[in-house]
Amino acid sequence: MDKRIQVQLSAEQIAARVRELGADITRDYAGQELVLVGVLKGSFIFMADLARAIELPDLRVEFLGVQSYGDETSSSGVVQITFDLTKPIDGKHVLIVEDIVDTGLTMDYLLDQMRTRHPASVKLCSLLHKPSRMKKPCAIDYLGFTIPDLFVIGYGLDYAQKYRNLPYIGVLTE
Ligand code: IMP
Repeated sequence: MDKRIQVQLSAEQIAARVRELGADITRDYAGQELVLVGVLKGSFIFMADLARAIELPDLRVEFLGVQSYGDETSSSGVVQITFDLTKPIDGKHVLIVEDIVDTGLTMDYLLDQMRTRHPASVKLCSLLHKPSRMKKPCAIDYLGFTIPDLFVIGYGLDYAQKYRNLPYIGVLTE
């Protein structure tokens, strides 16, 4: 393990919480078709684990690529869709799967975007939330963990495109 990285959430803690989220989603969407929409790139690992924790026969998987302008550790709220859904979502139940809601600016934009496409419902599942930095409050229907205002890496989250492959979530100490 890299000594410069302090573990915030271990792989075991994450796995246990993802199982709980999967069980909640399975219960809430029982008997319905659900489209999971993973927000790239940060959500790719969470999405893969969450999808396998959801026991619905009618589960679809889509991805959205999003570029959020800003510096390396914070977003400006100017968001661009760089990769779009491959199928229309009108009339579908949509669950957006995000790695982290920080200022909320990215999610505010994306939720508005999705609603213009007339889905039956749109909800949000985020693995992490930093409430202290919230600028645009958005309801997180399924939340993994609330964390303090620290820049975290691992389990899909990057710093300058690195560290996404760490199996845990940590903080760089130098
Ligand atoms: P927001 O628009 O400020 O809510 O930012 C959301 C996006 O910023 C997330 O999807 C991440 O890509 C990135 N981000 C925010 N905080 C962190 C962090 O602590 N580590 C890695 N990426 C982060």
